[in-house]
Amino acid sequence: MTDKQSDKPMLRVLRGTAAEPKPIWLMRQAGRYLPEYRETRSKASDFLSLCLNPTLASEVTLQPIRRFGFDAAILFADILVIPHGLGQKVWFEPGEGPKLEALDAGGIAKLKPAEVLPRLTPICETVSQVKSQLPKTTTLIGFAGAPWTVATYMIAGGSSNDSTPARMFALRHPTEFATLIDLLVETTADYLIAQAEAGAEVLQIFESWAGTIPNDSVQAFSVDPIRKIIGSVHKRVPTIPVIVFPRGAGANYRLFGDVGAAAICVDTHTSLRWVHGETKKAVQGNLDPLTLIAGGKALRAAVEKILTETAGIPHIFNLGHGIRPDTPLAHVEELIRLVRG
Ligand code: CP3
Repeated sequence: MTDKQSDKPMLRVLRGTAAEPKPIWLMRQAGRYLPEYRETRSKASDFLSLCLNPTLASEVTLQPIRRFGFDAAILFADILVIPHGLGQKVWFEPGEGPKLEALDAGGIAKLKPAEVLPRLTPICETVSQVKSQLPKTTTLIGFAGAPWTVATYMIAGGSSNDSTPARMFALRHPTEFATLIDLLVETTADYLIAQAEAGAEVLQIFESWAGTIPNDSVQAFSVDPIRKIIGSVHKRVPTIPVIVFPRGAGANYRLFGDVGAAAICVDTHTSLRWVHGETKKAVQGNLDPLTLIAGGKALRAAVEKILTETAGIPHIFNLGHGIRPDTPLAHVEELIRLVRG
């Protein structure tokens, strides 16, 4: 670690030190609530082209840093670039979210793991471009989806609130399901290593659908695959801190304490102090994105509660899920003032 890196508040917290004031960034901080994002977005033919255009993706990554001075920039891309890299058709229907050509048991053998890194080279180019333009106290976060979460989209052919298609697939085709998870473990690890080698200083793994996994399968579908990914990453890039976000895991948040993560990102329904107590890791989160829309007294009270709850704990201020498109910019500014004091 160089001295320059240790000066970054995010990295200090990820090494286990409680920093004051706390570092802050917001999940989905580059997105539709920003007029400058909507402007850049209109220049790309579609969302995936935006993710795969290093000039536009770098611009979008840097927009929230310029406007708000967050402590971290998160690479602009999407968790569904992995299925795209594997050769599955992925597109984003405006107003409807992601669509994929749904995968059946026979489709797994047709996926092309060797294509993932070549097809995702432009994203690593975005990482290098952003890295060279960031203020020196800002940390660059790379990311990927966890295998279960990515598999839920690949199998359903889009979003699904309770992951029924993936759960059904795992019951009917256990061997093919395990093959798919293993394939995602390998390609995701390679992709995260490539991001780290291009300049990402922290990696976040999004297990957005941890809450839909049957209790008996959390270990096999989520904890073990994430531990394998982090193990592979650390073999190549030993010191890089990894943040794991098992959204909706409830009591199973406990199980993510020994996957090799430096920090656990906590959802709106779970206590930051409890997760820290159970896992002994730094924690990140967990302001309700709706309080950021409401603003005023509700926002002040919610921020105060988090600051009190996490006093003395290594904590990165963030939301408990992504910022919503209808969030007023003035409320984001107010949040930063409240956190930085
Ligand atoms: O600013 C950032 O956080 C970086 C970029 C980022 C995006 N998606 C951009 C995006 C990140 C880290 C993600 C992660 C992601 N993508 C997750 C995990 C986090 C979570 O929200 O649970 C998931 C599940 C996805 C899949 C995905 N991508 C969905 C379900 C959608 C549609 C919902 C929506 O908000 O529109 C997307 C599209 C998407 N990804 C947008 C952005 C800015 C909106 C697309 C647009 O501009 O029209």
